[in-house]
Amino acid sequence: MPTSIPNYLDASSQLLYAAAIERGITCETFPETQVIKMSYQGKSWYTAGSRTSFQSAIGQTIADNKALTKVFLKTAQAPTAESVLVTDENQLMELKKLHFPLVMKPQRGAHGVGVIVGLADFAAARTAFLNQTNPVIFEELLQGTEFRIVCINFKFAAAALRQPAQVTGDGQHTIAELIELKNQHPWRDEGHRGKLSLIKIDEILIQNLAQQQLVLTSRPAEKQVVILRQTANLSTGGEAWDLTDQVSPVNQRLFETIAQTCDLNVIGIDVMCQNLTDPIAHQPKAGIIEINKSPGLRMHHFPVQGRTHDLAGQIIDFAIKEAIKL
Ligand SMILES: Nc1ncnc2c1ncn2[C@@H]1O[C@H](COP(=O)(O)OP(=O)(O)O)[C@@H](O)[C@H]1O
Ligand SMILES: [Mg+2]
Repeated sequence: MPTSIPNYLDASSQLLYAAAIERGITCETFPETQVIKMSYQGKSWYTAGSRTSFQSAIGQTIADNKALTKVFLKTAQAPTAESVLVTDENQLMELKKLHFPLVMKPQRGAHGVGVIVGLADFAAARTAFLNQTNPVIFEELLQGTEFRIVCINFKFAAAALRQPAQVTGDGQHTIAELIELKNQHPWRDEGHRGKLSLIKIDEILIQNLAQQQLVLTSRPAEKQVVILRQTANLSTGGEAWDLTDQVSPVNQRLFETIAQTCDLNVIGIDVMCQNLTDPIAHQPKAGIIEINKSPGLRMHHFPVQGRTHDLAGQIIDFAIKEAIKL
């Protein structure tokens, strides 16, 4: 990426900025924000992360409210976990309609904050609810692997599998050494700056190893995969594998219907299922977890396995077409 791009921009904004400059668009930034003003042939618009001025405000309202998202997912006939919105203790009785174990998550949450997976029974759900103060949704557990789908201009654009930070043994190096070797990859850098983030050795990582009866000085066998964290976020050292070519047309149509119904011309759809080839609607306990109005682009531009997809370029090309209509 050219060095003139301000370093307070996160990876998605930097990718959009670079794609814009490549197309002869003038970019103006606003210190310490993700907002970029783009000007081209007498027209101008803004971007922030992967959002543009052309995104529907209603679509954003839908994505920001997990209970409302459910309504629109049902309208789109998209499979999703059965759920109940609970805003006060009296409504907890509604949980009797659901099959335990359940997930509890804030009605308006992000980045996994306040999400509790696997509440075994009514008592556990009640305690979890009373330990916090926000409206939440409780929902049944989906099963499988979590995939991220992106649609741009209501067309399926890419699919990726996010993997938690991990190392593969060679029978010689210790886990600490394997982490150090992995961190030497030129893509790995601090925070959101690089194409991938560095794997940090901290308490959480050490605890995760302990749960697997491992320590930093253990020497995993050849080809033994050691998962270092529970979360698959790229910012915690995770990595992405591109699976775009595995998504069958029937699943692509489903994702496009979700994008249209939720009125988001750039959308990230999180889905939990066995695979992306068989119709998701026919897979047991599979469904849409949530939708995102500003999906991160790093995982599609820099997958460690599979093909690269220039989503930033596609978003800018779409924005140019919309701007010309103004
Ligand atoms: N119904 C569910 N079944 C299984 N896991 C879930 C379910 N809902 C959420 N999760 C897990 O919790 C994580 C965070 O939930 P999500 O709805 O994506 O909230 P956030 O907006 O905070 O990211 C998901 O990435 C997934 O791992
Ligand atoms: Mg999420």
